[in-house]
Amino acid sequence: MVVTTQHEASQVGVKILLAGGNAIDAAVAVGYALAVTDPCCGNLGGGGFMLIHLADGKEVFIDFREKAPLAAKRNMYLDKKGNVLDGLSTKSYLAVGVPGTVKGLDFALSKYGTLSRQQVINPAIALAEKGFILQAGDVRILQANQKKFKDANVANIFLKGGKNSYEVGDRLIQKDLAQTLKLIATQGTDAFYQGAIAQKIVSASQDNRGILSLKDFANYSVATQKPIRCNYRGYEVVSSPPPGGGTTVCQMFNILEGYNLKKLGFHSVESLHLMFSAMLYAYRDRNSYLGDPAFVKIPLDKLLSEQYAEQIRNKINRDRAIFPDSIKQNYSREGTNTTHYSVVDKYGNAVAVTYTINSNFGAGVIASDTGFFLNNEMDDFTSKPDIANQFGLVQGEANIIEPGKRPLSSMSPTIVTKDDRVFLVTGSPGGSTIPTTVVQVITNIIDYGMPVDRAINLPRLHYQGSPNFVVSEPYALNSKTVQNLWEKGYRVTPFLTWGAAESIQVNLKDNSFLGASDRRKSAGKAIGF
Ligand code: GLY
Repeated sequence: MVVTTQHEASQVGVKILLAGGNAIDAAVAVGYALAVTDPCCGNLGGGGFMLIHLADGKEVFIDFREKAPLAAKRNMYLDKKGNVLDGLSTKSYLAVGVPGTVKGLDFALSKYGTLSRQQVINPAIALAEKGFILQAGDVRILQANQKKFKDANVANIFLKGGKNSYEVGDRLIQKDLAQTLKLIATQGTDAFYQGAIAQKIVSASQDNRGILSLKDFANYSVATQKPIRCNYRGYEVVSSPPPGGGTTVCQMFNILEGYNLKKLGFHSVESLHLMFSAMLYAYRDRNSYLGDPAFVKIPLDKLLSEQYAEQIRNKINRDRAIFPDSIKQNYSREGTNTTHYSVVDKYGNAVAVTYTINSNFGAGVIASDTGFFLNNEMDDFTSKPDIANQFGLVQGEANIIEPGKRPLSSMSPTIVTKDDRVFLVTGSPGGSTIPTTVVQVITNIIDYGMPVDRAINLPRLHYQGSPNFVVSEPYALNSKTVQNLWEKGYRVTPFLTWGAAESIQVNLKDNSFLGASDRRKSAGKAIGF
């Protein structure tokens, strides 16, 4: 079973499985295919996380998050007065972190796959070279972001004739990207990190006041770590360690484990208040303590301990919001960027991947004829303590910019097991809303007994304390609940862009797979056999 945000990419994954590949082969092939078919989010020019549950029970977390260039500086986005310069960390070559995707996918394939690099990249090459027919969901993303296709080398690919928007039924051909993929398929990661591709990116960066160097590419390395884990009502939740968002996911579960959410009722004022309180404390710790573990010491044992969860529960007043009614900042985030996909195979392997170029279409730039967008992941760092980034996250010193450091992420590819068997593969895009999405999907299934399709598609809510209001997907709550939350001290405001939590649930009774594609991204598809 393969579930991704783009129908062609799901097909690619399934074809790899049908050809005898395992879930890791399929996940790598999908990673390359999405770089072609979902260019807003799937990528070669960004980075991400892959969580693998192997059939023998071993779990592997592969961190291919971007790194700050070696010339990066703590204050690189501030003016002389110390104010954040608008757009520098999101829209320019200065926003680009050293991409990790190509090395990350290659590492996964070489360690845990069974097919050759050529075999898993070939489908992506064909999709780029011959093109694919755009469906309504594909066109919607291109049209919604059309204003970003300003540079000639971008417009020539993503606008018809370099001028007009693509329409349903048109074929999107990406010859430059096909060439880049062929180089990677034949020459391996060296083509990207030591060869022609690195040179083109560095040269475009230098021409546009960026700071990327050949050394940044030559030095880029993938990291492996032990995943984060927590037990929630008899299920084992396995997720991404820092710099990923799994710590925040597990902190929320540890706090919520002390309450009977089922008895309190789905979206009752009481259960929502407890959810929001758990979110508040988990995000407070995220923003204070988390960062790249290669650079900062993170008190993970404490943050994930049951005693700490108990201390937090003791601070929660069952009647009132903790910081009622003190809206300080605005919340301006761009929406559904990043992409998550899930794969399981018949052998018992499961893979959850979330990877990103940060904003939709990243920094909006493509280096000469490389054909792929570069990320604007540098915005995930703390540009200045106490000043919000594009996700409204007010972060601290732990996530300050340093050369070679990875920016803190919210991405939380997650696998839930029951009695050592894979039960759920999930994750989501959505910036700071990722961990709360993952928690809601899982509580919908475990606490409220929903099937995965309903669990991922129900409207969601998110609260991160700062800015101090709850964001709500349309129709998540009725007006009486909003009123009751108001009386408790919560300000609820509508919010439109939420992540597509492409997920797979395993029926533990008959071992069948239930794939669920999220309606929020209509180009997506769940395909199994
Ligand atoms: N770029 C969004 C995240 O990694 O959380």
